[in-house]
Amino acid sequence: MAEILVAYATKSGSTREIAEVIAEQIRHASHEVTVLDAADVRSVEPYKAVVLGSALYAGRWRREAVKLLMRNEKLLARRPVWLFHSGPIGPQQVPQRAPRKVREIAARIGADEPATFGGRLTSETAVGFIAKKMAGSSLAGDFRDWDDIRLWAYLISERLVAAR
Ligand SMILES: Cc1cc2nc3c(=O)[nH]c(=O)nc-3n(C[C@H](O)[C@H](O)[C@H](O)COP(=O)(O)O)c2cc1C
Repeated sequence: MAEILVAYATKSGSTREIAEVIAEQIRHASHEVTVLDAADVRSVEPYKAVVLGSALYAGRWRREAVKLLMRNEKLLARRPVWLFHSGPIGPQQVPQRAPRKVREIAARIGADEPATFGGRLTSETAVGFIAKKMAGSSLAGDFRDWDDIRLWAYLISERLVAAR
């Protein structure tokens, strides 16, 4: 078990970009990191630690991220796991707790509740009629705080170094 898995579930790409920055930060500490769409993860068996993030839509995690959690619950319970979601947008950026199912699985596998990172919604990246409408409103913009994201990933890499 050599590698760290950073998996993501996205609709319009911003959560994938967050996952890539997290992976880059963890690689700085000489860890091998694989970044995968959650839909492409068959099993977390080959990985010694897992970071999983999903975009939030209508208060929910994307189905592929929830599926990954459900299908791998036993394996995840035996590895360090960090969860995050990206979503809050607009001037208020109200942080949102993960859906109850995700919080329950997190508790069972011994992971913290997901960290919340701001999201992105722009007319260039919005997918679907509702998203495009919303992208024309005051909710539009890129609210991802890269320093915050890098710091979170740095703390993970430190924990992984300590566990070596
Ligand atoms: C239709 C729609 C519903 C959304 N619902 C939520 C929500 O419930 N909570 C939240 O924090 N963000 C919500 N967002 C914001 C998205 O989570 C945000 O744009 C996120 O960065 C999208 O990630 P993605 O680019 O990886 O798909 C919503 C966005 C859209 C377009």
